[in-house]
Amino acid sequence: MSELSVPSRRSWAEPWKVKVVEPVRLTTPEQREAAIREAGWNTFLLRSDDVYIDLLTDSGTSAMSDNQWAGMMLGDEAYAGSRNFYHLVEAVQEHYGYRYLVPTHQGRGAEHILSQTLIKPGDVVPGNMYFTTTRLHQELAGGRFVDVIIPEAHDPASEHPFKGNVDLDALESVIRENGKDRIPYVCLHATVNMAGGQPVSLENARAVRELTARYGIPVYMDATRAVENAYFIQQREPGQSAKSVKEILREFCSLTDGCTMSGKKDPLVNIGGWLATNDPALYEEASNLVVVYEGLHTYGGMAGRDMEAMARGIAESVQDDHIRARIGQVEYLGNKIAGWGIPIVKPIGGHAVYLDARAIYDHLPQDRFPAQMLAAQLYLDAGVRAMERGIVSAGRDPATGDHRYPRLELVRLTIPRRVYTQAHMDVVAESVAAVYSVRKSTPGLRMVYEPKYLRFFQARFEPEA
Ligand code: F0G
Repeated sequence: MSELSVPSRRSWAEPWKVKVVEPVRLTTPEQREAAIREAGWNTFLLRSDDVYIDLLTDSGTSAMSDNQWAGMMLGDEAYAGSRNFYHLVEAVQEHYGYRYLVPTHQGRGAEHILSQTLIKPGDVVPGNMYFTTTRLHQELAGGRFVDVIIPEAHDPASEHPFKGNVDLDALESVIRENGKDRIPYVCLHATVNMAGGQPVSLENARAVRELTARYGIPVYMDATRAVENAYFIQQREPGQSAKSVKEILREFCSLTDGCTMSGKKDPLVNIGGWLATNDPALYEEASNLVVVYEGLHTYGGMAGRDMEAMARGIAESVQDDHIRARIGQVEYLGNKIAGWGIPIVKPIGGHAVYLDARAIYDHLPQDRFPAQMLAAQLYLDAGVRAMERGIVSAGRDPATGDHRYPRLELVRLTIPRRVYTQAHMDVVAESVAAVYSVRKSTPGLRMVYEPKYLRFFQARFEPEA
């Protein structure tokens, strides 16, 4: 018998097996053509029944574990003081380390409460790149967002390992120009969604902490994908590889005063969120406001069972083997696409592979919506649903009314947690290759309907003749 040669680099697999399956529907090209037309060439307006592989978002699309589903049956649906609320508080204190918790229905509920509590008209909020809902809540409270991310973040080809980092000189200039009293807090996203799911290093977070402390300015984190950020620190930051993701997460959070959280991402649930803080005065005001907009301060718009599922999801989300497999799947897809020479954002991000639509459709100017068109083409090719993250998402400048022209014009292939297999990833990669091969003859789009707020959700388009 001949000797088998065992490869030196062994394969890994997910730390779970499948217990329940959900059928997905295959459609014909004619059906997809009709569906995208009806949806105004906007993937947000497609019916999910018409989608084969849904990579619109990783938000609220995760598969819960049997342990989380078991917790759903233990929902204490009392109006006030549900036991699940206290379990959630314990989970947040243990894994994120913040003292006080205000539950909300999802992330933007927390952003609303934080913005209304801290921002006064005329204030300036520096942050490492905007996020759509976060910036809008800052603006609605009378504030102005200022981007202080490092320049590498705007370059899809830069291989900087921490493209989410804050440019410390830029931050200090914003503080000096506006005065510390005009800066209610610094908003630190970890990871940075709009930059391609890029992380912030521990060293940079520590430097932000030291700088802002000199001026007495608090730091609030968008912790939506902070576990993914912690994994990148473990993998990439010198001196961090011996620590667990759990330890790194606690250390990172300790450099901030609190956070807003969309529980629909890292924490592995379909709905829920929270605002956390170490500041008793902010907690008091936020728990007063939450009863106006979300629900009582012990449920904030969530059912007891939702809070239980999230408490259990948080504990699962910080396990090294979970997060390694989660990000490993994203890397698998990204490496496959990049291996064919198709331009994507490098390094591959935590929750998604971002296609560089500007480079792919280099014959289309940005106001002919190349990323919007690329997302539509992926749907037409194989029923894969992706999301535009370019000029449509960036919206208009409230002062001038003009389009904002972001340097990044991207399509996001966002991977839900624990939902799809490697075979699904192969189908997606091949669909990207097929769309790429006909890129030169693909026309642009015209916007024919534009809503006032967060236009990317509901805008409608038509292809150019
Ligand atoms: N912050 C970040 C970084 C996000 O990615 C999101 C949501 C939010 C805040 C808002 O949270 O949806 O629970 O209200 N991102 C989703 C996405 C919608 O597809 O990236 P939410």
